Amino acid sequence: MSFFSNKSEGVMGIDISSTGIKLVELSRTRTGYQLASMASVALPRDAIVENTIIDSAAVSEALAEAVRLARPSTKNAAMAVAGNAVIIKTISMPMISEFELEAQIEYEADQYVPYDIDDVFLDFHIQGMTADDPDKMDVVLVACKREVVEDYQLVLSDAGLNAKCIDCAVFALENAAEITDEHTAPTGDQYALPDEDAEVNALVNIGANMMNINVLIDGRMAFVRDQFYGGGNLTEEIQKAHNISYQAAEQLKIEQADQIDPDALEMFYVGLTSELVRSLDFYSASRADFPVRKLYLSGGCALLPNIATELEQRLGIDTAVLNPFNHIDIPPRKFDTAQLEQSGPMMMVPVGLALRNFDT
Ligand SMILES: Nc1ncnc2c1ncn2[C@@H]1O[C@H](COP(=O)(O)OP(=O)(O)OP(=O)(O)O)[C@@H](O)[C@H]1O
Ligand SMILES: [Mg+2]
Repeated sequence: MSFFSNKSEGVMGIDISSTGIKLVELSRTRTGYQLASMASVALPRDAIVENTIIDSAAVSEALAEAVRLARPSTKNAAMAVAGNAVIIKTISMPMISEFELEAQIEYEADQYVPYDIDDVFLDFHIQGMTADDPDKMDVVLVACKREVVEDYQLVLSDAGLNAKCIDCAVFALENAAEITDEHTAPTGDQYALPDEDAEVNALVNIGANMMNINVLIDGRMAFVRDQFYGGGNLTEEIQKAHNISYQAAEQLKIEQADQIDPDALEMFYVGLTSELVRSLDFYSASRADFPVRKLYLSGGCALLPNIATELEQRLGIDTAVLNPFNHIDIPPRKFDTAQLEQSGPMMMVPVGLALRNFDT
């Protein structure tokens, strides 16, 4: 699902996030995927705030720098939107064809989207039968403010790139999770209903400012949410506890995590846990019969030592960290494999975007 896409030419994935640009290009091998090119370029701290591009020149420059470093084989990008500008809703509708739905979607969306329908890009995806009504189907409706998409398109085109596919971060996360063994893709009949031993996984991507959550029942999206909480909150706690600059706190966190003031870490985990509980409560309000069995972490914050154990103990849910690079062939002559594998969890969203290249 994406707002628009033109798959006639290849695409690379470009994740434009608050701390930086991540570019990933994949190629297909006989058995799976290979990393073709990649780069990460940091952004100045206030270039993107709450998913709004503030300093577009800085973002374009970083994009151009990422392209210079990675030397991808294409200028076409798949990118993602997230946060408040994006509305993702599952609605129940009478069974109609995709063609009929296409004609009706604007009317349907108008009831659920709090913005003027002319001001948003719309997309939809027929997900399957509605759980308690076999005459109806669940349709995932996605809307994103036009101006937000256009801002992203503009910085890409200023860097000489084309936005070929606009995705949502939570869907990119799901796409990337599908290539890891831990998580199964939806199989079989798209109208089948899950039974009581369904696999219920929560994908949780924790970045600097926000976390993207996607709960899947048997590999099918059941709940998504973007929340503003992330590694930046820990950096701020460290800054206060150690009385140092944001920059120094960031460095301490990444390079000497064992030196972090335990109280700062505790404050961060308390906050993170309560944000997660809030989302999981929202989810279970509608799907109490399918409790989350396993949490899969990713994003830069997942690199924090022991985060899986901490969350497992605090939430009482089995937790693991996802690393897409354990499932992608990385040619050692071209890349620093050890370093990439170590930072892999941070690359889930760009990898998921890069996988759009192989959509049929
Ligand atoms: N080794 C590490 N240990 C702990 N935290 C880390 C490590 N490496 C990066 N981080 C933190 O991860 C965060 C960046 O993660 P990520 O790249 O996923 O975020 P982002 O996509 O730029 O941000 P967002 O999506 O929130 O806008 C930062 O807060 C950074 O400090
Ligand atoms: Mg991010």
